[in-house]
Amino acid sequence: MQPLSNETLLAIAHDYGTPVYVYHAEKIEAQYQQLTHAFQETNTRFFYACKALTNISILKYIGNLGCNMDCSSINEVQLALYAGIPPNRILYTSNGIAFDEIEAAVQEGVHINIDSISNLEKFGKKYGNTYPVGIRLRPNILAGGNLKISTGHDKSKFGIPVDQIAEILNIIQQYNLIIKGLHIHTGSEIKDVSVFVQGITVLFDLIPKFNHLTYIDLGGGFKVPYKENEEGTNIELLAKEVKRAFSAHPNPNGKPLEVWFEPGKYLVSEAGYFITQVNVLKPTSATTFVSVNSGFNHLIRPMFYDAYHRIQNISNPNGKHIHYSVVGNICETDTFAWNRLLNETREGDFLVFYNAGAYGFEMSSNFNSRFKPAEVLVLNGETHLIRKRDSWQDLLKNQIEVL
Ligand code: LLP
Repeated sequence: MQPLSNETLLAIAHDYGTPVYVYHAEKIEAQYQQLTHAFQETNTRFFYACKALTNISILKYIGNLGCNMDCSSINEVQLALYAGIPPNRILYTSNGIAFDEIEAAVQEGVHINIDSISNLEKFGKKYGNTYPVGIRLRPNILAGGNLKISTGHDKSKFGIPVDQIAEILNIIQQYNLIIKGLHIHTGSEIKDVSVFVQGITVLFDLIPKFNHLTYIDLGGGFKVPYKENEEGTNIELLAKEVKRAFSAHPNPNGKPLEVWFEPGKYLVSEAGYFITQVNVLKPTSATTFVSVNSGFNHLIRPMFYDAYHRIQNISNPNGKHIHYSVVGNICETDTFAWNRLLNETREGDFLVFYNAGAYGFEMSSNFNSRFKPAEVLVLNGETHLIRKRDSWQDLLKNQIEVL
């Protein structure tokens, strides 16, 4: 799949203004096809972790591909329903939520993974054996790109620690709960396939303790290549390993277990481009700063996770290579890249951040009372505005003036 060309991106920058997020629909489709193709010999279901990017047009597009939806709040559940995805294709993997959100999810009839003893007990009291449910476990495995995005280790807040299995079983017995699934999510940007195999092994030890399981949910976290020449998770190898693990394992209830995955980044990250324009060039003794019309208010990943995004000057792609430090225009240090080689950059040039589809717009804010960017979808070679840039009214819209 060819990436969007500089010409296409420049035309979008001119037509819609900057900063702007651009998503390439066919790239999302290609990523989804790669997954389904690699896993065609396993009993697998994919749920897009929509926290990565919830624009409603993206949800509809991904839903129409046949992909299911994983949600992390009741509002995401409502968005998925609004996008036309039926409840039996929606999963709510909860984390530390108030019980009334679980009640609302039951009302909608979606799949639910419960992540605390406390909510499991409340669930048992209220629903008993009337609503089969999944349990989110913490496997005590340390994995993921960095500690901020690691979720399965023994100091993580996510899931019920596997060492509390006796308590889980007590509650199940007490309330006659039907547990239909076991879930783990060890983190984001996991390149090493053996981490998933380790997770499967942890779950295999527990499977015999549950009589009604229909699925094992291994969460998301496939790594995508952010840097030049970097490799992502080897999806074919992962599919092979999953198939091998499950065929070697006797089936507990006579029916093959489904394996569920919740990819976020894998589906949308590489489909996304973030275009900014250079405001100011500032040579200093330490570095030459390039200030763009954005900041961590629009793309927080570099400052929050030390994440690397490839950057290119698309309006001078043949200029000679010079080192620059790319920063934003907000009133805090908001370094996107330090001493990065770019084609010669002038004020007014357009810089593109690649791999910006996942957790880019989604984690943006109005800090410094700046507007959130517009979003554009490229579909079948045509561009569509799918979110207007904020306007002045948006800054005031929920405020109540008492003075
Ligand atoms: N399932 C669960 C339960 C999750 O918590 C997450 C991500 C996913 C699936 C999808 O993970 P993915 O395939 O996208 O790695 N904002 C961070 C990433 C945080 C991920 C949070 N949970 C970033 O920009 O790197």
